[in-house]
Amino acid sequence: MSITEATDQIIQERRSIYTNMFSGKQVDDAVIEKMIANARWAPTHKLTEPWQFVIFKGDGLQKLSEFQAELYRKKAERENTYTEEKYLKFKNKPLECSHVIAIGMKRNEVVPEVEEICAVACAVQNMWLTASAHRVGCYWSTGGVTFYDEAKPFFGLGENDRLLGFLYIGNVKSDKWPNGRRKSMEEKAKWIV
Ligand SMILES: Cc1cc2nc3c(=O)[nH]c(=O)nc-3n(C[C@H](O)[C@H](O)[C@H](O)COP(=O)(O)O)c2cc1C
Repeated sequence: MSITEATDQIIQERRSIYTNMFSGKQVDDAVIEKMIANARWAPTHKLTEPWQFVIFKGDGLQKLSEFQAELYRKKAERENTYTEEKYLKFKNKPLECSHVIAIGMKRNEVVPEVEEICAVACAVQNMWLTASAHRVGCYWSTGGVTFYDEAKPFFGLGENDRLLGFLYIGNVKSDKWPNGRRKSMEEKAKWIV
C-alpha cells in the first residue's frame, strides 16, 4: 500500500469506539506514548504548543473516578440536580477504560484563544489516528467534569487554561470495526474556479 493510500485508510477508518466495545484488556503503554509523541506534531501558531495531557492508568483511574464523582456530587447537591445514576456514570466511566487522557489547553496570550483550541484539537486528531492505526479504540468525550472550572487544578490547569475533555481508551472486544457515515463532498465544499 502506498503512503497516500495508507493515509486515506487511517483517516477514513478512524472511529469513535465507546467503552461498551472495550475488552477490558490493557492497552500497551507504548501505544499511548506513540499517541503523545504524534500529538506534539500538530500545527501550532507561533509554536505555542498549547496542549497539556494528563494520562491516567491503573490506580490513577481510581483517583480520577473518585475525584470527578465527588466533584459532581458537591456541585449537583449545591444546585439541587443530583441523581444517583449520573453519579455512578461519573464514577464508573474511567474504570471502564485502559487509559484516560485528559486534554488540556494551556493559554498563551500571544495568539487568540480560538487558535489554541484549534491546535489542541489537531493534536487530539493525531492521537486518535495513531490509536486507530494500532486498532486501539478511543473516543473524545466532553462529558464528566470537562466544563467544571473547579476541576482545572486537578489537571494542572490554571484559571485561563481550558479542559477540553477526555480521550477514553481501551482495546476493542471484537474485530468488527464500526462503519461510519458522512455527508458528500459536494455538500461540504464549493469550488470557485
Ligand atoms: C470535540 C468533540 C467532543 C465529543 N464529545 C463526545 C461526547 O461527550 N460523548 C460522545 O459520545 N461522543 C463525543 N464525541 C464523538 C462524536 O460523537 C463522534 O465523533 C461522532 O459521532 C462521529 O463518529 P466517528 O468519530 O466514529 O466518526 C465528541 C467529538 C468531538 C470532536
